[in-house]
Amino acid sequence: MSNGKPQIFTNFEFEADLRERLTAVGDLHALDDTSPERILEQLAPANAVIGWLTVDQAFLDAAPELRVVSVPAVGYDKIDVAAATARGVAVCNTPGVLNAAVVDLTTAIIIMLSRRLFEFENYSRSGAWGRREQPPALAHDIAGKVVGVIGFGRIGREVARRMQALDMRPIWYDVYDELLPGAPDVPFRPLDDLLRESDFVTVHMDLNETSRHLIGAREIGLMKETAYLVNTARGPVVDQKALTEALQSSSIAGAGLDVLEQEPPDAAEPIVKLPNVISFPHIGTSTHETRRAMRELSVANAIAVLNGEHPPAIVNPKVLEGES
Ligand code: GLV
Repeated sequence: MSNGKPQIFTNFEFEADLRERLTAVGDLHALDDTSPERILEQLAPANAVIGWLTVDQAFLDAAPELRVVSVPAVGYDKIDVAAATARGVAVCNTPGVLNAAVVDLTTAIIIMLSRRLFEFENYSRSGAWGRREQPPALAHDIAGKVVGVIGFGRIGREVARRMQALDMRPIWYDVYDELLPGAPDVPFRPLDDLLRESDFVTVHMDLNETSRHLIGAREIGLMKETAYLVNTARGPVVDQKALTEALQSSSIAGAGLDVLEQEPPDAAEPIVKLPNVISFPHIGTSTHETRRAMRELSVANAIAVLNGEHPPAIVNPKVLEGES
């Protein structure tokens, strides 16, 4: 297969202009992802792989010529970055271009929960309004409420800015406690204090070994009975079993979840059916505009690495050291 040109594999359906950009630098192959074994069989000639894929040691072993894994996502928890770095494989992602979409969804969830919009909508849709039934209980304003932002990276900071614009009162926690230049001027709180003070706790941590189950039974136990937990980041940052128990016993008011520990969940997963939960099938970036921007950036990243240039976004820049 090798003709000296870079071999690029993807399981994405790129639009014509992006395919053209890729075929200008190499040969483009559709990666058959029907099973993990089938993926491995195709990787021997691959110099670049673009897609939402699990990249572990077996993947890297099957792709000895690989130079770049370009993920059209900001989260790269399915990639063994240490193993890729050890092999000199660049790992690229798509930060920034999806902030607004995730912030929009987070905002919508907070308003839905606070204003009980899902209950009122169902009251109307189900005909209960027409039947003059008792309407749902009054809701709450969002103005003045404290929003605890856990994870003050690019998305968390934009969430805080948006909450300020909505007259809410954001506070934040992260593993660091100093405001970065350009960050919204919002008070830092140690995690336990943030959990105790917040009317809404919203999670914006990436998933890694320190953030896995960061929010467990103890942490949920610190939240107010009237507070809501929102997670549009990664499911495993929250201990879902502990959250389910807290929601079933109403030790917190409710939750809004765009992510779960297992995606898709088992059909019998209880948390999505609880009356005090609204959940969505991981749609934080699911808009035409944002997905297009993510595809564009993932293509630009892959092409840059193949051309020996610094890509616009790279997780392990160390692998490029020494390249011109
Ligand atoms: C979406 O979940 C992403 O990581 O981009």
